[in-house]
Amino acid sequence: MRAYYYDNLPGDQRLLHDSPPSTPISAERLKELNVYYKRIPVAEHEREIPRIMAERGYKNIDKIHVSKEGLGEVYEAKIKAFFDEHLHEDEEIRYILSGAGFFDVRESPSDNWIRLAVEPGDLLIIPAGIYHRFTTDVKDDIEALRLFQDAPKWIAINRSPETEKNEHRVGYLQSIGVATAAA
Ligand SMILES: [Fe+2]
Repeated sequence: MRAYYYDNLPGDQRLLHDSPPSTPISAERLKELNVYYKRIPVAEHEREIPRIMAERGYKNIDKIHVSKEGLGEVYEAKIKAFFDEHLHEDEEIRYILSGAGFFDVRESPSDNWIRLAVEPGDLLIIPAGIYHRFTTDVKDDIEALRLFQDAPKWIAINRSPETEKNEHRVGYLQSIGVATAAA
């Protein structure tokens, strides 16, 4: 996985958006934002993923294939929805099996986008309460495992003045030592 500041230039969301001079983001900085990353070779994932699930108490797993072929007519609408800035009240955990895509996470308090370019073998844990969005790359094809702490669900809450008061948003900001709007 490669991490860098998103260039904020207009154009297809599926492009790299890594205009020179590229500004890489270190694993340490990601950790400060409570974003965790681990590399597990795809050949080893059938052994390693269940181990991590047991370690972290994850109970469920499913597989998602985001592709034009897989999603058909709703593909463009889905891709747009995934790219709307949102948060979840649970961790979002993904393990990439094939293809490629980008998770953009908001750095706080700067409000800059950090782009995480994921590829097969990447396990990514995005904390509850962080604003983020997702897109495939230009090949429009990514297959990932979704791990869940409880029942499988994907409830996105789009960013708004209201989400600033969401307890998971407030809790997230506190966990990374950033003053909240309510403070
Ligand atoms: Fe999400």
